[in-house]
Amino acid sequence: MKLLLFSDLHLPADRRMKGRDPVESFQEALAHAHAHHGDADLAVLLGDLVDSGSAEEYRLLAESLRGFALPWQALIGNHDDRAAFRAAFGGGASDPVQAVRDVEGYRLVFLDSHVPGQSGGSLSDGRLDWLAATLAAADRPCLVFLHHPPVPVGLPAFDAIGLDDPAAFATVLGAHRDKVRQIVFGHCHMPISAVVAGVPAVGIGSTAYRALPNFSEPRFTDAPDLPPVYAVVLGDAGGGLVTHTIEYGSLGAVISTAP
Ligand SMILES: [Fe+2]
Ligand SMILES: [Fe+2]
Repeated sequence: MKLLLFSDLHLPADRRMKGRDPVESFQEALAHAHAHHGDADLAVLLGDLVDSGSAEEYRLLAESLRGFALPWQALIGNHDDRAAFRAAFGGGASDPVQAVRDVEGYRLVFLDSHVPGQSGGSLSDGRLDWLAATLAAADRPCLVFLHHPPVPVGLPAFDAIGLDDPAAFATVLGAHRDKVRQIVFGHCHMPISAVVAGVPAVGIGSTAYRALPNFSEPRFTDAPDLPPVYAVVLGDAGGGLVTHTIEYGSLGAVISTAP
């Protein structure tokens, strides 16, 4: 199995953010993925697809994906708007935007952790029960995807807008840790590794702009000059997984040397 992960696209209608154009940056990521990973099974967009949730921004997203040949699945993040997303891409009127897909021997479970009008996330209103039932019924190794980090990450600015009940999430994951191989999240705009109830979790950086960890004060620290990233997940037949970060926006030379 090969998955491509694109997180925190933040496509803004005016195409400007911290000195970058997130639309151009996302399109470069797609082009790079096309050129190097055209054999991937699925692309996952990990939420904060757009910046303000407007119809115009989702039109930019649809336009960007028009030439993308791989199947894709999108999560809803705190910057998204479910109704505008559904208006652009279909999928019926029911909330939340959650899904299950079987890919190459794995079951991929896509959660919606969005709470309209707030930056923090939640799996209330039946979403956590849905996850528990989905994992209980799974007959193969699972990956769980959600926008918000499922644990406090030790960064005050992000922990103030994290998942509202990480302990409840950990209880569900712990009950099914024999089946869940990996949790994947976005939201923090930086690579993060964690363990949740014995299950490895990985946070993916942004295609729009990179953030740096600020451990000491509740402020975001962004470094838009760093290369944007996407990630590639390789899964083997035995349920083993490897996740690579692809710094596709690096402007420096790439030197190829035999081992
Ligand atoms: Fe974001
Ligand atoms: Fe977010």
